[in-house]
Amino acid sequence: MLEPRGETEDGFERHLGVNFLGHFLLTRLLLPALRASGAEGRGSRVVTVGSATHYVGAVDLDDLQGRHAYSPYAAYAQSKLALTLFALRLQRLLEARGDPVTSNVADPGVVDTELYRHAGWVLRAAKRALGWLVFKTPDEGAWTTVYAAAAPELEGVGGRYLRDEAEAEPLKAARDPELQQRLWAEGLRLTGAGVGADDAGR
Ligand SMILES: NC(=O)c1ccc[n+]([C@@H]2O[C@H](COP(=O)([O-])OP(=O)(O)OC[C@H]3O[C@@H](n4cnc5c(N)ncnc54)[C@H](OP(=O)(O)O)[C@@H]3O)[C@@H](O)[C@H]2O)c1
Repeated sequence: MLEPRGETEDGFERHLGVNFLGHFLLTRLLLPALRASGAEGRGSRVVTVGSATHYVGAVDLDDLQGRHAYSPYAAYAQSKLALTLFALRLQRLLEARGDPVTSNVADPGVVDTELYRHAGWVLRAAKRALGWLVFKTPDEGAWTTVYAAAAPELEGVGGRYLRDEAEAEPLKAARDPELQQRLWAEGLRLTGAGVGADDAGR
């Protein structure tokens, strides 16, 4: 989060590569195993760790990698909105195929971790001074993710944005089917459409 512009070994802007494309590719590679291991009443679950930062995010499909204009804040927010778009589209595709797999987003809240290492000194100082008041502990920060992965009441339930172990509403743009589809197509183009031949859809 909030890194100065840099690139992964594959040449992707780092927020996009690490926070979005990696998850996109990994999930697609795992889909055949997830389908095979899911069953009626005991579905497989894809839990994508999102962030409230997606509410201030925008996906710039013309400059996804921030080559023309770069802001660490915008890059992080874009990567988290991209994840939300991905997770919600994945659910629609899984549903359409009748797969025993669900896809939800878990927003952990504000958690006291190493995530803030690249934040400016003001934010880091505020975190040191007031962190105990505002931040969840790492254990507490894991609860929503564990809830999404294990709660019996979420059996067969997908397409949810979860926060504090309850459903919340994501940014409206995250449910935009056209934006979801265009981002998915771009994800396939960047990571290799042929990978994971048993894809959920294109
Ligand atoms: N903390 C919060 O307030 C907060 C809020 C909303 C969402 N989240 C989300 O929660 C998730 C976990 O974050 P965290 O708070 O636990 O942060 P963290 O303490 O910084 O942990 C980040 C994890 O990502 C790994 N990582 C970082 N850069 C990487 C790279 N270039 N390639 C591969 N792995 C890399 C780190 O691996 P190493 O340990 O090996 O470096 C570490 O395991 C993230 O998706 C974050 O966006 C956190």
